[in-house]
Amino acid sequence: MQILLVTGGAGFIGSNFVRYLLRTYPTYRVVVLDALTYAGNLANLADLEGQNRFEFVHGNICDRTVVEPLVRRVDGIVNFAAETHVDRSILDAGAFIETDVKGTYILLETARQCGVERYVQISTDEVYGSVPVGVSTETDPLVPRSPYAASKAGAELLVRAYVVTYGLPAVITRGSNTIGPYQYPEKAVPLFITNALEDKPLPLYGDGKAVRDYLYVEDHCAGIDVVLHHGMPGDAYNIGAGNEINGIDLATRILDLVGKPQSLKQFVIDRPGHDRRYALDCTRLQALGWRPRHSFEDALAKTVAWYRSHESWWRTIKEQQAAYRDYYRQQYELRSQSTGE
Ligand code: NAD
Ligand code: DAU
Repeated sequence: MQILLVTGGAGFIGSNFVRYLLRTYPTYRVVVLDALTYAGNLANLADLEGQNRFEFVHGNICDRTVVEPLVRRVDGIVNFAAETHVDRSILDAGAFIETDVKGTYILLETARQCGVERYVQISTDEVYGSVPVGVSTETDPLVPRSPYAASKAGAELLVRAYVVTYGLPAVITRGSNTIGPYQYPEKAVPLFITNALEDKPLPLYGDGKAVRDYLYVEDHCAGIDVVLHHGMPGDAYNIGAGNEINGIDLATRILDLVGKPQSLKQFVIDRPGHDRRYALDCTRLQALGWRPRHSFEDALAKTVAWYRSHESWWRTIKEQQAAYRDYYRQQYELRSQSTGE
């Protein structure tokens, strides 16, 4: 493989992955296709501008007239493009069905017609649903519980159908909650860090005890790289770090790292259908040689340091982007009534 199409490459994980690929494979060329939704940001790729192995195309994965000529000239596709925020999917699921399901269908259909060598679908541990005890393995049933998770599970089922029916050499990754540079400040970690830096409350949903497994973005990228090159067509691969932490403990650590008072924690009304816990068994990926390299402490400290030193990146979004301000008002002003926890 020499030329890869990375869809959604102007988002958080996609932009980190593009940088990872160009650094790790000096002969690879990368074409990014991104619609630049509210979450896509050319600033995430600014350091790559002018590199002759990198090309950016502004367009939608649902638009076959854009997708087809690109797929014709690449060897493989890594599909990060998606609507990704659970709370937004609860407010309005439409864009999730459109991009995450239909967009995946357009990519798969084009990939099979053009005969790509490899297709990687970036999925999520949320497809397993809430996991009160134990860990999810790749053969567990998919029991998504939010519109976001359902759209990602729908996309996965399409990928599976294209492997079985047409022999498309496709693989799936199911990553856990990822943190690091360039994450849009609607997700818990960047929201908590930037709110703390601004002396604003850190909103904890419900009792603040829902558990997530936080993975550093470089480790997620390394896992995707292993699956891209060595995954078995038709298989899915969990990618998690085993860093289980609940919302309260997460907020406590962030406030300590930022040097702000614990009184900034604020309990707010819970997310409807809030999944209580995710946890992954990563034996399958570990058998291919992958291991996370960052401890949770290291990952969180690096992430806090990045937001501290890139204030203009997140302030531009929080202060100047109408899509951010409107969403924040809708999501948090309604929730700002304390539950007394
Ligand atoms: P993000 O929201 O930061 O970025 C998504 C990108 O996709 C944006 O650049 C956006 O402009 C682009 N996009 C959206 N709709 C598009 C369309 N129709 N056509 C072309 N581009 C479009 O997302 P992220 O957090 O980087 O997640 C990337 C992928 O990884 C997603 O598929 C997500 O489901 C998956 N994932 C994310 C996490 C996480 O914790 N962030 C964990 C596991 C899996
Ligand atoms: O698990 C992988 C998934 O992780 C990805 O597939 C999604 O794209 C990504 O958004 C993320 O989903 P979560 O819903 O787990 O992440 P989020 O950052 O929104 O929330 C993490 C936890 O923090 C969750 O228990 C909800 C809680 N939370 C979140 C926000 C935004 C709060 O308590 N307060 C908040 O303001």
